[in-house]
Amino acid sequence: MNIREVQDEIIRLKKENDICILAHSYQAREIIEIADFTGDSYALSKMAKTAPNKTVLMCGVRFMAETVKMLSPEKKVILSSSIAGCPMAEQFDKEIISQMKEMYPDYTVVAYINTTAELKTVCDVCVTSSSAVQIVRQLENNNILFIPDCNLGAFVAKSIPEKNIKLLQGGCPVHAAVTRKHAETAKSLHPNAELLVHPECQPQVTELADYVGSTAGIMNYAKKSDKKEFIIGTENSIAEHLQYECPDKRFYLLSKSLICENMKSTTLIDVLNCCKGEGGEVIELSPETIEKAVQCINKMIELGG
Ligand code: 13P
Ligand code: SF4
Repeated sequence: MNIREVQDEIIRLKKENDICILAHSYQAREIIEIADFTGDSYALSKMAKTAPNKTVLMCGVRFMAETVKMLSPEKKVILSSSIAGCPMAEQFDKEIISQMKEMYPDYTVVAYINTTAELKTVCDVCVTSSSAVQIVRQLENNNILFIPDCNLGAFVAKSIPEKNIKLLQGGCPVHAAVTRKHAETAKSLHPNAELLVHPECQPQVTELADYVGSTAGIMNYAKKSDKKEFIIGTENSIAEHLQYECPDKRFYLLSKSLICENMKSTTLIDVLNCCKGEGGEVIELSPETIEKAVQCINKMIELGG
C-alpha cells in the first residue's frame, strides 16, 4: 500500500465506524490531510464538545485525549499512540499543588491545559497558549499561581503587569531548549524574515519576536501577513504545513531541534490500526476525576469565548 491508499482506507473506515479524527497541528502532514478537524489545543478542546461521532480518535498527546474524554464522557476516546505523553504535563503532581494551595490560600490556580486530568482536579481554571492572557485578565483575583510553564506564565505576567503572578519552574523541554543565540543566528541569516514564536519559548527568545502566539496564532499570522518570509519558532511541522499552504512564501526553522517526539510518535499506520479497532489507547477516567477536572476546562471555554 502507498500513502494515498492508506489514507483512502482510513477515510473509508472512519465513515464506516463513525469516528471523528482530531489532529493537533504538530502532527505529520499525511495525518493532517485525513483529519476531520485540526487546530491548536484550544480549538481541539472546543471541537471535542461538538463532534457528533460515537468515537473520537485524538492524534496528539495524552492530555488532549483526556480533555476530549472529560468534555464527552459518553464517547469512546482513543489516543492514537499510547506513548504520546507531554513531559510538561507530568512535572507537578496533585499533592504538590494541593500543598501550595494551602500555603497560598488567597491565590487562584491557573493551569496550562498541558496538565494531567488528575492535576486539573485541584485547579481553578485552565488556559491554553492562545487564551491565557485573555482568561487571566478576566479573573477577579489579582493573585495568580500559574502552573506549570514558567515561560508561558512570564509571557502572561508581562502582558498583564497589574496581576501578581507566581510561577513554578516547569516548562516544555522542546521549546525551552531554544536559545537567544538561535534567534539571533536565524535573524541574521534571514534579515527580511519575521520571527514568529510560541510563548513556551524563553523570554530571551520571545522578546526578539515580531509575533508571539499559539500554533494556530502563528499559522494565522503568517497566512494573513503581507510579508513573504518567516522564521518559525515552534514545532517544525508548523513550518512544513505553512509551506504547503502558502507556496509563494518562505518559511525557515528557528532551530532544527524543535521536534516534539511525543507528538511525532503517531504514524499514519497507527491511525489506520485505530480506525480498525486495533492499537492506540482507550482513555478511561473515573467519574469523580471527570466531575472535578472538567470544571476548569468549562471555565476556560466560558472565559475564552
Ligand atoms: P497550542 O496550544 O499552541 O496548540 O500548543 C500546544 C502545545 O503543546 C505546544 O507545545
Ligand atoms: Fe508537550 Fe512541548 Fe510536546 Fe507541546 S511541544 S506536547 S508542550 S513536550
